[in-house]
Parts: sequence; C-alpha cells; structure tokens
Amino acid sequence: MSVAQPPFHRVAVIGLGLIGGSLASAIRKQGLAEVVVGFDARRDELSLGVELGVIDLAADSVEGAVAGCDLVVLAVPVRATRQVLSDIKPVLEEGVILSDVGSTKSSFVADVEAVFGELPSWVIPGHPIAGSEKSGIRAAQAELFANHKVILTPADNANQAGVARLKRLWEGTGATVLTMSAAYHDEVLAATSHLPHLIAFSLVDTLAGEDENMDIFRYAAGGFRDFTRIAASDPVMWHDIFLSNREAVLRGIDHFTEDLGRLRCAIANGDGAELLRVFSRAKAARDHFSKMLSGQAYVTTNIDNQVTFHMQPGGAVNGDIRVPGDKSMSHRSIMLGALAEGTTEVKGFLEGEDSLATLQAFRDMGVTIEGPEEGFVRIHGVGMNGLQAPRGQLYLGNSGTAMRLFAGLLAAQKFDSELSGDASLSKRPMGRVADPLRAMGAVIETADGGRPPLKIRGGHELTGIHYEMPVASAQVKSCLLLAGLYAEGVTSVTEPAPTRDHTERMLEGFGYHVHRDGATASVTGGGKLTACSIDVPADISSAAFFLVAASIAEGSDLTLRHVGMNPTRVGVINILKQMGANIEVMNESVIGGEPVADLRVRSAALRGIEIPEEQVPLAIDEFPVLFIAAVCAEGRTVLRGAEELRVKESDRIQVMADGLANLGVETTVTSDGIIIDGGQEIGSGTVESYGDHRISMSFAVASLRATGAIRINDCANVATSFPGFVELALKTGIRINAEGND
Ligand code: S3P
Repeated sequence: MSVAQPPFHRVAVIGLGLIGGSLASAIRKQGLAEVVVGFDARRDELSLGVELGVIDLAADSVEGAVAGCDLVVLAVPVRATRQVLSDIKPVLEEGVILSDVGSTKSSFVADVEAVFGELPSWVIPGHPIAGSEKSGIRAAQAELFANHKVILTPADNANQAGVARLKRLWEGTGATVLTMSAAYHDEVLAATSHLPHLIAFSLVDTLAGEDENMDIFRYAAGGFRDFTRIAASDPVMWHDIFLSNREAVLRGIDHFTEDLGRLRCAIANGDGAELLRVFSRAKAARDHFSKMLSGQAYVTTNIDNQVTFHMQPGGAVNGDIRVPGDKSMSHRSIMLGALAEGTTEVKGFLEGEDSLATLQAFRDMGVTIEGPEEGFVRIHGVGMNGLQAPRGQLYLGNSGTAMRLFAGLLAAQKFDSELSGDASLSKRPMGRVADPLRAMGAVIETADGGRPPLKIRGGHELTGIHYEMPVASAQVKSCLLLAGLYAEGVTSVTEPAPTRDHTERMLEGFGYHVHRDGATASVTGGGKLTACSIDVPADISSAAFFLVAASIAEGSDLTLRHVGMNPTRVGVINILKQMGANIEVMNESVIGGEPVADLRVRSAALRGIEIPEEQVPLAIDEFPVLFIAAVCAEGRTVLRGAEELRVKESDRIQVMADGLANLGVETTVTSDGIIIDGGQEIGSGTVESYGDHRISMSFAVASLRATGAIRINDCANVATSFPGFVELALKTGIRINAEGND
C-alpha cells in the first residue's frame, strides 16, 4: 500500500533497535514520509541501518537527526529518554510532533515534564504492542506492526491534528490504533506484559541457579519453551521498564504472589477443589482469550467483528436436525447449580455467547465449573452463601436475561457488584428490576433512564414483597423469585399474562418449593438448593426459524428433535398452526420436569391471522420470524399488544419493518405491533440487523422466498443464541454464506 499524501515529510527515528528499526523500515516501505533519518549512539547499528535499507539517512548526532523533521520518534531504552529529550530540546522545529515507542507511558510523560517544564500539546506518547524476543536492527522488519495494536496516550490538551497524523502513520504500517490515558496504559501493560516477563525471567533464573550445569534444560520440553520464550528478551530494556513502571508492576507482583501463595497452600493441604477451581477458571479465560485473538468471541469483538450473511434466493428445507440447547434454561442451570449444595451436571447446555457470559460470571465469583464440552457442564455448587466477590465488573455481553436475573441474586449478596454489557444491552431498561428490588431493600444504582451498568451494593437484608408486574416478563418474575430465596418471609409475583416458567420448574427440580396459585408464584426465603441433573432440550426459539423456513419453502420436510415444549413457550407453534402450518408433534415426553417432543414440519400454504394477544408472551422471541411467515401468507396478519418487542435486543418491530421495506415489502407499524399484508414479493436488497441475532436469522429464512440475493449486515451476534446456525442452515438447504468470523 502506498500513501498518496504521506502524513509526515521528514521523520527522525532515534534508536535503531528492533522497534525503531522496524518503524523506520515500515515508514520507508509504505511511503509514510518522504525521508527517514536515523540516529543511534551505537555507530555500527547506524551504518547497518543504511546498509539494510532501514533508513534513508544516518545522522551524525541526535541534534542533527531531528533538525528539519516534522515527526521525531524516540525508540531508545526508556531510561535514556530524559537525556535524549534534553539533547534535542534546543533543535526541535516549530510544528514538530514528538512521540515515542516506550513500554511505559507515565515515565515518558514525567521525563517530558522534567525537560520541558510541561507536557506540550505536540508531544503524543505511543506504544506499539509488538515485538519479539529478538533485539537489534538485524531483527527489524517492516511488517512487525501489521495486525498489531498501537496505543497512543495523548493528554487532554494534545494537538488533535497531530494525533490524527500520527494515527495515520501507524495505521499505514498495518497496525490498529487505540487511545487511552497514560496511567491506564501502564496499569494494563504491567498486568499483561511486564508481569509475565518478570515471571519468565525469574523462573528461568531459579531453575538455572538450581542446576549449575543447566542439565535440567536438556529435558525441558514444549511447556518450558512456551512459558519462558520471553525470558530471552533484552535485559537492559526490561530493567528499564520495571524501574519506570514501578508502582503498577508492584501491585501486579503482590496480587500474583498472593494467588501463588494460595495455590501453594492448596497443594500443601491436598485441596483439589481449590486447584480445580483456579485451573478451570484460568482455562476458560485462556480459551476466551484465544477466541479473542482469532476474532471469534463477539463479547470482545462486537466493535470490529463484522459478520455478513449473503443469501441466495430459493431452496427447500429438508433433513433431520437438533438445534442447540434452550437459552433460558441454560442460564438458569448455571445459576441454580452454582448456588446448590453438591455437584450439578447439565446436558444439552447452550454454548452460545449469552449463556457462556453467565457461566463466566459465576467463575468470576469463585464457582468451579467444568466444561462446557459438547454441551456437558459440571457445576460444583457453593451453596446459597458461597459466592465470592468478583474482582471486577461482571460483563454480561448481549444478555438481558443474565443481567436481570443476576440483579436479583446479587442484590442479596454480602459483596458489592457491578453488571455491564455490550452496546445493545446498555440501552435496555433495567428499572423494571431495580425498582421492585429496591422495594425489597436492595441498593442498586443504574445509569440514566434506568439503563446499565448496574451498581449493586451488598450487605443489605432483603424483605419479601408482593409484586404485581406491570409487564408480562419472565425475566422480572425470575429476578424477584431469585431475590426472594434470600429475603425474609414470602416474595410473591403476579403476572398480567403467563410467561415462561423455567425458573419455577427448575427451582422445584433443585428441591426449592415454589407455591403457584394462578398467575402468582411465591417463594419463602431461607431455604436451600440441592444439586441435580439437568437435560436441556433444544431451544424452541431456535427451532422457530426452521419451523417457518420449512413452512414457507416449497418441497420442504424437516424433523426437529428433542424440542422444548413448555406450554409457556409454544406460542410459535400455536400461531403457525392457526396460520395453516403443517407441524406434527411426535414422541412427546417429560424430561426433568420439562415437556419435550420431536417436530415434523412440511411446506404449507399459510394464511394471515389476527394474532391472539394471549399468545404474545408465549411467542415473544419468535415474532421476527413470524413476520416473515406473515409476508409469505395469504391475507392480512395483525399483531397487537406486543410493545415489549420494542425493548428487546433491538426495536424488533421497527427493525423488521425497515428490513422488509429494503426488500420491497410494505408493512404498517403501530405502537404495539404491526400489520402485514401477505403475498407481497420479497425482493433482493441489503438489510441491517443492528446486531440482533433474531433479526439476522429471520431475514436468512426470508431468502427462501425471495426473488433475488439478500445481504444481511451485522450478524456476529447470532453466536449469542445459535452457534452453528450457518452450518445447520446450509445442511438443511438454506443458501447462506457467512463472510467474516462466525
Ligand atoms: C427470557 C424472557 C423473555 C425473553 C428472553 C428470555 C428469560 O424476556 O424475551 O429472550 O429467559 O426469562 P422478558 O422477560 O423481558 O419478556
């Protein structure tokens, strides 16, 4: 790539080690400046710089290097910074930008302040997170920064045009540029880079010291090599870094020493449970990190992980499949399993990002959880009062269920906690749980408008209340029942219409009695949960996409296995049947208190209906795909009483109407529903799903009846509820191609 107008004319790179040399090389190779001048106090490195083509010109002195430059980058050992700054101060040009590549930023700022008496607006500290255990100009390579991150730490007064130019320069090397404060940078780097280096140096030194002939290294295999690779890094550079980032590193060392001490104790005492807890938590974190690195986990990549579905029109849907486990039950299995006494085993657990967020949060609160592996999870319950304070915020990704149910549980703990989520979750209303919890005595702070994050203060005794829910919400009901397990007396919740009752059923499964009287469910606080086995059926909400797909696509015949048929969830089947769908319910059974069946669905001529309002809460998550069924039906479909759809992962009424409009289908949006005249042609076009998994999958289904190709943007979140959707859809005959990471 060459840059038409380079961001800088003349760049001086002071210090031609691995990083300085690689930067100079990249600037030259990518045409990011007209001239690159280099200086290094080591004369042989300097002449090598010219010889290897790393720099255009070698300067005789540091002052000579910076004269006439509009960018000066210090790539010297951190402890040499102050001297170099004093040397170049008198010769810096008007309009220059001064930056660096050092691993500690507060120390750079302190050096600048010491030399200049202030932090001038044209000083913009930087740090490329790239390197290798090799050092010196011979190891320099122009590609070193490609696909790496570069952190800039401009102060509040920084020259913004300068920041933009420097950003362009680094982006030109192939890097991604982030900005943050110098202090935060140092804290993060102390934990993620400096501490690991220290431990690697120390371990190799300890082992080498124990074995004078270093015989031991002859037997050292991959584990040793992997773990200690970084102990071959440049000792001078690292000695500088530790001395410069003293405070943050000391905090990291103390933390680590304490944790190591705890592991030592566990081994000494034969405490296998503690070892298993730490190792399984660490493994999960490491697996998650690997996913982050390969861009698979939406929770960290939802900003830049773009997945696009490209749909080809037509096709029939056939086969015999099982969709992944029920999301609602997967969340609850972890929550109740964690609070139970004994070990709970779960089969069919949904390995989607939402339920994994719940699982991770309990690990963060000290619960040992093995798996998930092929849907199997083993939870070592800690009892009602065994949760530990998490070290940081509990990040719940896209999951409204997790956040609302957690609010109930955490309001009753002894410790403080903070719940946060992604951009979509951060817009969703939490006042609906915070308000009744406050009435029980909880202390909860929300952001403006009752939105996340939720800050929950621990140590407040809760008292049971009776609550008449203004909206039919299983999440609110479940939240209050969970809080009620800890509250003094009875907590009862009355719902305006039946909502999913998995919490009530599962509590009974764990031996906790839930009194049910019509629309009211109540629990008496102070009891305990006893571990059990849970078999999570396939999620009817995921099956729904295929129920509609096989109904609308001619020549379809599909069997869906082991689908959860809880009567509070079967609205989609009731509605589709009323529209004329051909759905056969087979092999009905009850497993672990939940009805399950196989469903055979064949193509059918659908007709529009007035959707009965009492079915709305029973099909609340299935409306996006039901709208597609309505478009393919003959006659008018009218939905009312569904304003809740507007506060789901997206405003599902508006987003569906907009997407359909892009495909040439007209609808009438009302405040609490939609009117769809069936029989309209679905054309080709581009649809925005706004990161809402169910919108993405609904339009994928629509392609079966489209006349042209459909592009669906922003589909990464399909992984929240339906990992493997693309593969399964392809297998049944849906013509889908996913671009990006799925
Ligand atoms: C859920 C309840 C429903 C549903 C959500 C899962 C649950 O939300 O939309 O996907 O697991 O309790 P509301 O309680 O907000 O209706």
